[in-house]
This record gives sequence, C-alpha cells and structure tokens, in this order.
Amino acid sequence: MRLIGSMQTALAGVLLLVGGVSSVTAAAPKSMFLFKDVLQSNTTGLTTSGFNTLLIFRIGLTDAGDLVYYSTGDAGEAVDAPVVSGGVYTGGAALSDKIRSFKTAASTQVDRVEVSLVSHDTTFQIIRDLVASEGTGPESTLYRNFAALAAAWDVDALNNDDEGVYDMTSTVAFAKMLGGLGLQYTIAPYTNSAFWADAVGRINTDQKKLLDRVYLQVYDGGAGNDPASWQKALGGMKIAPVEWVINDAKPSEGTTPEAAQAEFARWFSEGSVEGAGYWNDYDVEKMGSSYTAYGKVLTDVFG
Ligand SMILES: *[C@@H]1O[C@H](CO)[C@@H](O)[C@H](O)[C@H]1NC(C)=O
Repeated sequence: MRLIGSMQTALAGVLLLVGGVSSVTAAAPKSMFLFKDVLQSNTTGLTTSGFNTLLIFRIGLTDAGDLVYYSTGDAGEAVDAPVVSGGVYTGGAALSDKIRSFKTAASTQVDRVEVSLVSHDTTFQIIRDLVASEGTGPESTLYRNFAALAAAWDVDALNNDDEGVYDMTSTVAFAKMLGGLGLQYTIAPYTNSAFWADAVGRINTDQKKLLDRVYLQVYDGGAGNDPASWQKALGGMKIAPVEWVINDAKPSEGTTPEAAQAEFARWFSEGSVEGAGYWNDYDVEKMGSSYTAYGKVLTDVFG
C-alpha cells in the first residue's frame, strides 16, 4: 500500500477509532537525523520528501540536569540553546512551534519526532549519576525535565546514542521512566551488540515494546555492521540501517542516493531490515544534495 504520509496517518487514526485495534501495521521508519539547527534548516524539504521520522540531534544535560539543545548553524557554528530548567520549558515559542510543525504542517509526511542523546557529551554520565542520587520518580530532576521537554515539543521517542558509557542500571531505569511518560525508546548503536541485546531484554519486558526501533549505524565506526547479524543478536528485532549522506567531513563515508538504494534494497530483500535512514540534514544542505532524492530511496524501497 502506497499512500502519502498524512493520508496514511489519517487512515490509521480512523481505523483505530472504528476498530478499537489498528489493522494497519506501523509504517517502516524512514528517518533523517537533524544535525542542523531546526530554526535554520529546510523544513519543507525535511517534511515533504518521504521521511516519516525526524530525530533532533541533540539534547545534552548540564551537571544540574537542565536540558540544552545543541546543534549546528548554517555556517557551521555551534548553536547552544537552553531549553528546560527546573522542570520548566525555557526554550521559547519559536523553537517549540518549529518542532511541533514537523508533524502538523499541512503537507507533512512526518508522524514521529525523536530526540537524540549522545555520549560525546557527558549526558550519560550525568543520567547515571542522577538516577543513582535521585531515582526516576515524578519528583526527580530527570522525570520533571524530560516531561517538560516532551510536552513542549510533542516528542514521541527518546533516542539513545550511547557510544561509551554503557551503564545498564541507569539505561534501563531511564528508559522505563520515559515509557511511564508515554514515550517510546530507541537506540542508535554502532558497536557493543552484547550490551544492547541485554538492554533490549531488560527494557522490553512486556508486549508493548518500549524500545521499538534500532537505528543501526552502518557508516564510519559502524561501517562493517551487518543488519542480519544485529537482528539475530537483538532477539529478532528488525533493524533500520542508517547511512551517512554525501559530506565533506569524511568524504569516503558519504553515500549517494543511488548507493543507498542498492544497499537498503539488498538488506530489505534479505529480511533483516524494516525502514532505514540517514545521518544528517546539515550535510544534505551544505553539499547541495537533494532531500527529494534521498527520501525517494526510502519510499521506493519501504513504501
Ligand atoms: C528545500 O528542499 C527541497 C527538497 O529537496 C528543495 O526543492 C528546495 O529547493 C529546498 N529549499 C531551499 C531553500 O534550499
């Protein structure tokens, strides 16, 4: 079935209302990681090119647990925007309106917005320490701050891109806290499948699959990753491989739409992948590449 995203969303909603349970299986992830400041990137390109999932990269935590939106501007400059402090959203209406518009703009195909946390920051150390000192109950700093962010931005999922801390206790506690807030949880591994397999088992302890997507890095440090091996390691979970678009930071890691299409189609035919995506929008715009071309790869392969 090939429908445009907004029709598909509307149809799924109608079926849910009429039938009580949806007979439409969730659409395959067609994803783009947003490295560029969302206030400077091409919103129309991002929302109308076939992507149904946008991942905002990234939110970091200060030592006190306040949340900061770190991104990159059009000229490559670092953009740091404090967004939550003491359980209150402080990021301003321009930013929250922009992010909410990803799912509400008239012609959008996006129905899911995720926020990434990455271990290049001290984020996962701080989460580990806050879980140890305060726990994750409704009065905790983590609970109050992520609840405020999720409400202000209408976030659907948090994406864990831990590439170094790998603390199981806080990873599971934090994921379950987010589940309690009505959010989904996803991961973006490039290595350490043993850790992630254990985490999936501890987080998905019921049928609801709190951890519902695996965005596997198949570029740079993860270039040798094979989705079928990861699917096996993670107990059969389907994999959404993520390729790096053409870029001038590491040109040899850049993938053209044509090369991505061949690769994604091959893995899809092998049965290990469900959806795919790209790292990242900043490079698409800097290199003058086409969102339409990269998005069409995903709709061609995954519908
Ligand atoms: C935004 O992206 C679309 C789709 O790739 C493109 O047609 C359009 O020219 C872009 N707009 C700007 C201002 O770059």
